[in-house]
Amino acid sequence: MKMSLPMPHGGKLIEAFNPDYPIQNTNQEIEIDSVALSDLELIACGLFSPLTGFLGKEDYESVVESMRLADGTVWPIPVTLPIIPDIAADLHKGDICRLNHKGETYGILELSELYQPDLEKEALSVYRTSDRAHPGVNKLFERGRTYAAGKITLIKRPDKGDFTDVWLTPKETRSLFAEKGWNTVVGFQTRNPVHRAHEYIQKAALETVDGLFLNPLVGDTKEDDIPADVRLKSYRVLLEHYYPETRVQLAVYPAAMRYAGPREAIFHSIARKNFGCTHFIVGRDHAGVGNYYGTYDAQHIFREFTEEELGIKPLFFEHSFYCNVCEGMASDKTCPHTADDRVILSGTKVREMLRAGEIPPSSFSRKEVIEVLIQGLREKETV
Ligand code: ADX
Repeated sequence: MKMSLPMPHGGKLIEAFNPDYPIQNTNQEIEIDSVALSDLELIACGLFSPLTGFLGKEDYESVVESMRLADGTVWPIPVTLPIIPDIAADLHKGDICRLNHKGETYGILELSELYQPDLEKEALSVYRTSDRAHPGVNKLFERGRTYAAGKITLIKRPDKGDFTDVWLTPKETRSLFAEKGWNTVVGFQTRNPVHRAHEYIQKAALETVDGLFLNPLVGDTKEDDIPADVRLKSYRVLLEHYYPETRVQLAVYPAAMRYAGPREAIFHSIARKNFGCTHFIVGRDHAGVGNYYGTYDAQHIFREFTEEELGIKPLFFEHSFYCNVCEGMASDKTCPHTADDRVILSGTKVREMLRAGEIPPSSFSRKEVIEVLIQGLREKETV
């Protein structure tokens, strides 16, 4: 399959990092939370191309209603900067604001607009529910009720700590894929340790493309997800033992998890296209949480867009499991046996077993991965 790496979404890779920005020109400051800090960085490095800043009202409303920016470009998740009323009262259009997080200035916002979102509508459209028990919806209502819009500049890169060697910007991944001679690259999103079902669908995809881009999300996740630093160790050990080095690239995706199911699947695929992927894996209940979305809703949503406007090809996978009779991984498409013969895998199940002190069997997860997870979680408990 000969293809060339896709154009960035919207046609141009956005780059808005300037450590020499004349900071003396600013006249306001806004304290931003960790989600906004991550959004700031990802807009600035082009991962959210074609966005050049936090969405204004026209784009916001268009995204909420029709999953497109006002100019028609596909964009499923509002990337907004919510601020608290006290700060909003002091701000005016045209202000040049420092964006601060925990006492450090990371970016600049050229304030073009302040507006009041309809959060109920945003929740129902983006998350398909306004239930506060949904972690994405809860976060939405917890954050400020005024949105500040405008172009951003990143002036200081957030420290990546344990992830420093596995954080690559889209510009870097694009040249790396070219260097490796990969014409087709499949992106894989995960917020879990890689279990056997993940490995199965990754390797099935890898049979037909040049490279696998293992791209775990390491931004904010909900409390009970396995911490990203522990997961990272598990990815490294898994790759070392079970994947050919020349066919896989590990790098982190430092975005916050929205748990927006179908819409987030589109969002995830656009970000991976910006990294340079030609294909993107969407399995069962992608980016879902609880029972808010149907098992394959995150696949069905792709029908609403043409392949040309999306510019990355989704690879859909059925719910896969380990079958004791087949003695291997399978799905309904390949296995004729009954539920009694099948070991149903999920990240949630692995987390529950680990937290209960149980050791998941090898049909669930590779032993090296389990050892790293047990050790990592034990260390967290004693910290
Ligand atoms: S997600 O929130 O990042 O989507 P997770 O890390 O569990 O959650 O899933 C990563 C990818 O693997 C998603 O595309 C998901 O649909 C897919 N996936 C997870 N478990 C299975 C499974 N048992 N069968 C098929 N696909 C799966």
